[in-house]
Amino acid sequence: AVMKEVFDTRTMEEDLQVKLGVKEVHVVPGDSDKFPWVQKELGRAAVGVMKRRLKAADNIIAVTGGTSIASVAEMLVPDSDLKESVFVPARGGLGEQVENQANTICATMARKAMGSYRLLHVPDQLSKEAYDSLISEPSVQSILKLIHSATMVIHGIGEAHTMAERRSTPVSVMKHLKENNAMAEAFGYYFDEDGTIVHKVLTIGLQLEDMKNIPSIIAVAGGSSKGKAIEAYMKKGPSQVLITDEGAANAILNEL
Ligand code: BG6
Repeated sequence: AVMKEVFDTRTMEEDLQVKLGVKEVHVVPGDSDKFPWVQKELGRAAVGVMKRRLKAADNIIAVTGGTSIASVAEMLVPDSDLKESVFVPARGGLGEQVENQANTICATMARKAMGSYRLLHVPDQLSKEAYDSLISEPSVQSILKLIHSATMVIHGIGEAHTMAERRSTPVSVMKHLKENNAMAEAFGYYFDEDGTIVHKVLTIGLQLEDMKNIPSIIAVAGGSSKGKAIEAYMKKGPSQVLITDEGAANAILNEL
């Protein structure tokens, strides 16, 4: 039975690589929508991938918020390369509860890995005026410089509607998302089923166009309910690695 399971996940990984056009896919057994421990396994798998992809020194690891990345943080253990790493949030406030915020996760990762961290204090839902004035602050400039030299990004992928609700998105934006058939969300960007950006939360930090030059972009997302969102995001998304679970893999491969 164990052999079969190993074999099946491997086939799924290869099928997903082809279907999504992603170089590296890891599938953990189970469905995180049904069993919370599966998300922990996603976290564990992500830690393995992170370690393998670290450079010998000067790693700058940018992280997003969300429960999936929070479980990556939970699974981190000290490691000689990680000790030299600096953890930073990928982008400013996107409207999450404290425990799911990138800043919180970033500090937890640094503590667990015995690395260091820098935080970015930017309120959610910035006005254009606030954005322009914040971005010129010297303290913000200095952390932004670090974020822009990230060597690795670890991010979650959400189902668009779920994320918009969780962020208490204004009614007008909700309407826009609905009209434009938003399907997926990642780092504050919303995508339709073709992977085209339909909305972006205004905040400072990494923008999608900055990610083209980052050598390691790792997406961590599982659960059968996220199948369509993962597929939509992966169509054009810059991520080279996807860490997912059997639930999402099944939904994607069998178009459920
Ligand atoms: C958000 C990230 O905090 O979490 C998004 O900014 C991501 O990139 C989302 O889509 C996913 O959350 P979860 O809890 O489903 O992992």
